[in-house]
Amino acid sequence: MDTNKSLPQKFVHRFVPAEDAAQAPTLLLLHGTGGTEDDLLDLGKMLVPGAALLSLRGKVLENGMPRFFRRLAEGVFDLEDLRFRTHELADFVQTASQFYHFDAANVIAVGYSNGANIAASTLLLRPGVLAGALLFHPMLPFIPEQLPDLQGTAVFISAGRRDPIVPQPQTEKLAQLLQEAHATVTTHWHEGGHSINHEDVRQGRTWIKARLKLAAQTDLI
Ligand code: MLT
Repeated sequence: MDTNKSLPQKFVHRFVPAEDAAQAPTLLLLHGTGGTEDDLLDLGKMLVPGAALLSLRGKVLENGMPRFFRRLAEGVFDLEDLRFRTHELADFVQTASQFYHFDAANVIAVGYSNGANIAASTLLLRPGVLAGALLFHPMLPFIPEQLPDLQGTAVFISAGRRDPIVPQPQTEKLAQLLQEAHATVTTHWHEGGHSINHEDVRQGRTWIKARLKLAAQTDLI
């Protein structure tokens, strides 16, 4: 389904309903710089076949390339814009859950690069909006003044040891911060760079399968 009708604060997006209406979770797909709402649809389908997918296009343009928030330079973020965009995105997900009738308590972000960064920011600024997240090649978006309580939130981070954009200590610091906020964090390192490779997908899929199995038993993802 392709629709943007009557959603306030709208993002260009795609929504693909779950194959089975009772099926959870909904995957919130967030592309990297220069991407669109189409980029991660196949990844979402591979991660959780049959799941509902809500895929957004970032509203900020950098030389014509969609992003989810402004940056001042590579890896240097406009923190005021990031904060504003994070709330805007979180509000949109909640409104979209009513519009499309998916469970707002069971949304898992799947973000790549810039999309992973706004997903991480959403975890830190709007705990409760995401039940979990798969972050492919994220950076530490900022250090919050106060840590949120992310008890019950599960996060998978995939990172490349040869990533020219994300220094390894940034990934480690993000994982550490999320852990200090009581999230359950699994970090997977591979020998690749910044792009998503087979190893990212394989490990992400194994992780989400295990989490969903656990959720069926315990109500947590
Ligand atoms: C960002 O700006 O979010 C990061 O530098 C990753 C990217 O290049 O998009």
